[in-house]
Amino acid sequence: MTSAADITIPILEVRRLTKRYTLAGRLLRSGDSFAAVDNVSFTITPGSTLGLVGESGCGKSTLARMILRLITPTSGEVLFEGLNLFELSRTRMKDIRQRLQIIFQDPVGSLNPRLRVGTIVGEPLLVHGLATRKTVRDQVVLLLEQCGLWADAATRFPHEFSGGQRQRIGIARALATRPKLIIADEPVSALDVSVQAQVVNLMQELQHEFGLTYMFIAHDLSVVHHVSDRIAVMYLGDIAELGDADQVYRSPKHPYAKALLSAVPQPDPRANRDERIRLEGDIPTPMAKPSGCSFRTRCPVAVERCARDVPALEDHGDGQLVACPEVRRDP
Ligand SMILES: Nc1ncnc2c1ncn2[C@@H]1O[C@H](COP(=O)(O)OP(=O)(O)O)[C@@H](O)[C@H]1O
Ligand code: SF4
Ligand SMILES: [Mg+2]
Repeated sequence: MTSAADITIPILEVRRLTKRYTLAGRLLRSGDSFAAVDNVSFTITPGSTLGLVGESGCGKSTLARMILRLITPTSGEVLFEGLNLFELSRTRMKDIRQRLQIIFQDPVGSLNPRLRVGTIVGEPLLVHGLATRKTVRDQVVLLLEQCGLWADAATRFPHEFSGGQRQRIGIARALATRPKLIIADEPVSALDVSVQAQVVNLMQELQHEFGLTYMFIAHDLSVVHHVSDRIAVMYLGDIAELGDADQVYRSPKHPYAKALLSAVPQPDPRANRDERIRLEGDIPTPMAKPSGCSFRTRCPVAVERCARDVPALEDHGDGQLVACPEVRRDP
C-alpha cells in the first residue's frame, strides 16, 4: 500500500501550457496566430533535474518564461509548490520569486555592464529584504566564493571576467535569494566545451549543497543527459518524449528523439539505438506547423492518420511517455 510519505509532491506542475503569438505579417492574415508552446504538461519532483532539449525555435525559452511569469500564457496553469502562479497577487508573486530563479544563456547580456559585480549579486538580497546595506557585502562575498570566484570580484565590472566567470556571477545572483527551483535556460550553450564542464559541475555541487531543483535547458544532449534525472524532448512546441534520463538517452522511442540521439556520438556500449536516422528536410517554422503530428513531415515511419490526429503523450508500458501511437507497433 502507498503511504502518504511515499508520495512525492511535485515542486513544479505545468498543466496544458500554451503560448500563441499573433503575427500580422505578409505571410499570415492579420489575426492569425501560431503556437510557440502547445499544450505542454509535466511535473518536476523536489531536488531533481528535468532536462529539456530541442532544436532552436522549438519553444524552450517561451516555456521557461511562462513558468517564471515573465510572459503570460494563452492558456494552461503553472503550480509551484501547489500554488497556481497565475492566480497570485503581485505581492505574493514577489515572495515566490525568491524561490524561483533563472539563469540565462548569455551571461554578457544578462548582467548590467555599468554595475559592479557586488551590486549585481547583492541587488536581489536588498530587493527581497534578505540583507541590509551593512550585511550585504559579507553575503555577496560568501555567494561569490560558493560559486568559485574570489572576494574582490565584487568591486569589478562584468567585462573584466571571462565567459565562464560571468556565468558564475549569474549563478551567484540566482542563488542569492536561496531559491528552491532554478530554471537554467541554456546556461552553458555560449561557453567553450572545457568551460561548460566546470560550470555544469558547479551547478551540480550547488544542487547537492542546497537541495536545489533544476529545469536545465540545452540543445546539447550529452550535457542534458549528464545533469538530468529525467529528460523531455521538444519538437515545434510539443513534448515528443519524456522519461528517465538514461532510458531516453539510451533507448529513445519517439522517431524524433531517435533521430536526435542517433546524431550524438555514442561511446556507451549499453546504448540500444537504431541505425543512424537522418532527418529529411528542415524543421518547419511554428507558423507552418503541420496538422496532426507536428513531426509527420520529417518522420520516416509516418502513416496516413498522422496528418489527422494529434498524438497524446502517453505511457506505453514502462513509464516512458511518448507522443506517437506508432511506437506500440515497435517490437
Ligand atoms: N515575442 C515573440 N513574438 C513572436 N514570436 C515569438 C516571440 N518569442 C518567441 N517567438 C517565436 O516562438 C518560437 C519559439 O521561440 P523560443 O521559445 O525562443 O524557442 P527556443 O528557446 O527553443 O529556441 C520561435 O519560432 C520564435 O520565433
Ligand atoms: S505520430 Fe506519426 S508522424 Fe508522428 S512521430 Fe509517430 S509515426 Fe511519426
Ligand atoms: Mg531559447
